[in-house]
Amino acid sequence: MITTLKNANEKTLGEIKEEMEIRKTKELFLLFSLGSQFDHLIKQALDKLGVFCLVADSNKIKFEDVYKIMPKGIILSGGPVSVYSDPLPFDEKIFSLGIPVLGICLGFQLWAQSIGCLVRKGEKKEFSTHELQVLEPSPLFYSCEKVMSVLESHGDIVVPLSGNTHFEILALTENSPIAAARFKHLYGVQFHPEVTETTYGLQMFENFCFEICGANDRYPAMDVAKQKINNLMEEIGEKKVLLAISGGSDSSTVAYLLKEALRSQPGKIKGVYIKGIDRPDDEAYVLEYFDNKEWIELKIVDATFEYLNALQGKSTMPGKRVAMRGIYKAILENEAREFGASFIAQGTLYTDISESGGGYNTGAKKAQIKLHHNVNLGFSLKELTPLDDCVKDSGRNIGRSIGVPEDLLVRHPFPGPGLVVRIEGEITADKLRIARKADEILIKKLRQHNLYNSVWQAGAVVTNSITTYSKGDDAGNGVVIAIWAVWSVNGFTPQVAELPWEFVKLISREITNEIPEAGAVVYRVSDKPPATIEWG
Ligand code: XMP
Repeated sequence: MITTLKNANEKTLGEIKEEMEIRKTKELFLLFSLGSQFDHLIKQALDKLGVFCLVADSNKIKFEDVYKIMPKGIILSGGPVSVYSDPLPFDEKIFSLGIPVLGICLGFQLWAQSIGCLVRKGEKKEFSTHELQVLEPSPLFYSCEKVMSVLESHGDIVVPLSGNTHFEILALTENSPIAAARFKHLYGVQFHPEVTETTYGLQMFENFCFEICGANDRYPAMDVAKQKINNLMEEIGEKKVLLAISGGSDSSTVAYLLKEALRSQPGKIKGVYIKGIDRPDDEAYVLEYFDNKEWIELKIVDATFEYLNALQGKSTMPGKRVAMRGIYKAILENEAREFGASFIAQGTLYTDISESGGGYNTGAKKAQIKLHHNVNLGFSLKELTPLDDCVKDSGRNIGRSIGVPEDLLVRHPFPGPGLVVRIEGEITADKLRIARKADEILIKKLRQHNLYNSVWQAGAVVTNSITTYSKGDDAGNGVVIAIWAVWSVNGFTPQVAELPWEFVKLISREITNEIPEAGAVVYRVSDKPPATIEWG
C-alpha cells in the first residue's frame, strides 16, 4: 500500500497519467523523502489539501526523470544525517529545472549547501516548539501570524554566503537566525510545518502548493474507508481472516473494515486477544464489543506463562521486544491454522512501520527508533494491514466513518509489547503485577478527574531505581515508579502534558499507598523528541 516512485519509464508514466485522470488533475507534486520520521505527515498534509503527491526515491529519481514528469512543485523532507558529513543521494541538477522547491530541515540544508551556503553544527540543538518571527513578507506565510509557534528538531544550521543578494532570510527563531529562507525558486524552513505543533503548518503547505507553485486542482476527497473496504473485499474474496485484536482503536477499526468487506457473514473473521502483558482493562473492552457477535468469533488466549518464559533473562528493551514478538507471532500463526485462515490482519499504523525503520522505500538512511511488535514479523500467511498508511488520528477518523464505537476509538494508545516496555530490567510476575496496578491507578484517576480525554496517552513505569522508604513505622527499599502523560495528535511529536500539580501528588500518594513495593513516584517532563512516548 505504500508506493514509491523509482523510475520514470513509459510504464510508470502511463500509470501516473491514469492516476491523474482518476483524480481529475494535471498537477503532480513530488516529495523526496530523505529519511525523516515525519515524511508521512507531509504526504498527509498534501492529501488533506487535495493535491496529488508521489513519494520519490532520491537514490533513483534523477534530473532526467523529474524533467519527464515535470511536477508542479518539489518537497524535500528532513532526515537524520548531516549534509556536510553524509552526502545525500540526491541529484542536485534537479534544482536547475526551476521547479519550486520547499526544503524542510535537512531538505533546506541540502539546497542551501548546493548554492554555496555553509551548513554546520549549531551552537545549540533545538528539539521542541519555538517562537518563529516572520521578517520578510513572503507568499509562504500568507494568512499566518507574524509570530507563531513552530516545532524544530535539528542540530545543524545554515549560514548564508555574504554578498549573495538573491538569498533572502524570511524568518528566525531564538536559536535559528535563518529559520526560513528563499533563493529564487527554492524555499526552505528549518522547522517542521508537517507537525501539528507548528500552528500554521498546513497553511504553509497550502501557500507553497497554491501560491508559490500555482496549483489549481484539488481532487475531491475520497471516501478512504470505502476504498479500503473495496480493496479488502477484492483481496479476501470468500476466504477467512484471523485478526489480532487488542481492544484499542486501530485493531477495532480493522475489525469493522473487515466486517464490511466480508458483509458480516458469520464464520469468516476470528479475533484473537492475547493476554498476559496487557492493560488491566483491555480484556473487558474486547469482551464488551467483540464477544457474542455473529460476524466475529472471539478467542482469548492467556499467554502469561509463555511470555514470562520467553522474557526470562532478557533485560534490554530491544531484547525484550524481540522475545515478545516471537510469542505473539507463534500464537497468531497457530490460531490462524486452526481457523483455516488465509490472512492475518493487524492494526499496524504507518507510525509503527516508520519507527521500526521502514516506511517509504526511498533508499535513504532511516533510523530505527524501536522495533514495533507488529512490523516485519515474517508470517507464513499473507498479512492485511489496511491502516498502514495512517497515523493515529487518520485511523481514528476512518473508524468513526464506519461506526466503530467512540468508546473504543478514544482509548489511549497502548503499545503492542504491553507492559514489557514499561518495566525496566528483567520481567517477572511481581513486576508485571506492580506495573498493572500502577497503570490501573493512573488511568482510573485520570478518568475520575476528567483528565483522561485531555491527554493523548499516559503510562506508569516500573523502574530499576530503588529508594529508601518509610511507611508508618516500617522502613525499607522501594521501587521508583515513573509516570508520564503526553499531549499529541498523532504520536509523532508529543509534548509533556502539564497535569495539575495536585493531581500528580494524588497519583504519588495512591501508588505508594496501594502498592507495597512502591517507594516513590516521579513524573517525566520530556517532550518527544528527544524522548519517545514509551519508556522502552
Ligand atoms: P514511542 O514510544 O515510540 O511510541 O514514542 C509511539 C506510539 O506507538 C506506541 N508503541 C507501539 N505500538 N507496537 C505498537 O503497536 C509497538 O511495538 C509499540 N511501541 C510503541 C506507543 O505506545 C505510542 O502510542
